Amino acid sequence: MLFLELAKKRYSVRSFKNVPVEQEKLLQILEAGRVAPSAVNFQPLHFIVIREKEMLEKIAAGYERDWLREAPVIIVVCVDYQKAWRRPDGKGHGDIDAAIAIDHMTLAAAELGLGTCWICNFDSMKTYKLLSLPPRTAAVALLPLGYPADQGNPDRHDTKRKKFDELVHWDGYKA
Ligand SMILES: Cc1cc2nc3c(=O)[nH]c(=O)nc-3n(C[C@H](O)[C@H](O)[C@H](O)COP(=O)(O)O)c2cc1C
Repeated sequence: MLFLELAKKRYSVRSFKNVPVEQEKLLQILEAGRVAPSAVNFQPLHFIVIREKEMLEKIAAGYERDWLREAPVIIVVCVDYQKAWRRPDGKGHGDIDAAIAIDHMTLAAAELGLGTCWICNFDSMKTYKLLSLPPRTAAVALLPLGYPADQGNPDRHDTKRKKFDELVHWDGYKA
């Protein structure tokens, strides 16, 4: 599949079939996250893969949406902020590293016919305690994974995104 085709195939899936994810596919998706670049190659990430029913329920309780309870797998993406690169002006890059890895995984999942949805609006402290994460480490995103039970809006790239010329500035910012 051409990259642009794959990028356009991915969408936020918020309804999942009651079908398990094959371990081989799950491993491929995690591998796509593993090979993602990180600032100075510091690799401050941890992926916690939740598959057991009871734990899925507890993790899903950090973001109270019925559809999240349908997901057969949730990958909790965590950043160790002590390991992440910090620019001389103090800006930490752990969240950027996490975003790249998550993007790799969402695209890998789409290629395999699986659906994902970024979730950042969850109770990170609840998840921190639930998973007994170490100090200076935080869960930054939940990534539910499963076979989609919905379909993306086919017009989404025309109707739900800025127009090309609103986004792209050639040779300097133009208001
Ligand atoms: C950083 C980030 C955080 C997001 N957090 C949530 C979230 O907490 N809950 C949710 O339902 N969707 C969340 N989304 C999904 C966005 O709403 C979605 O990507 C956007 O509306 C574009 O739609 P698409 O993914 O179908 O192309 C998040 C996406 C990103 C990139």
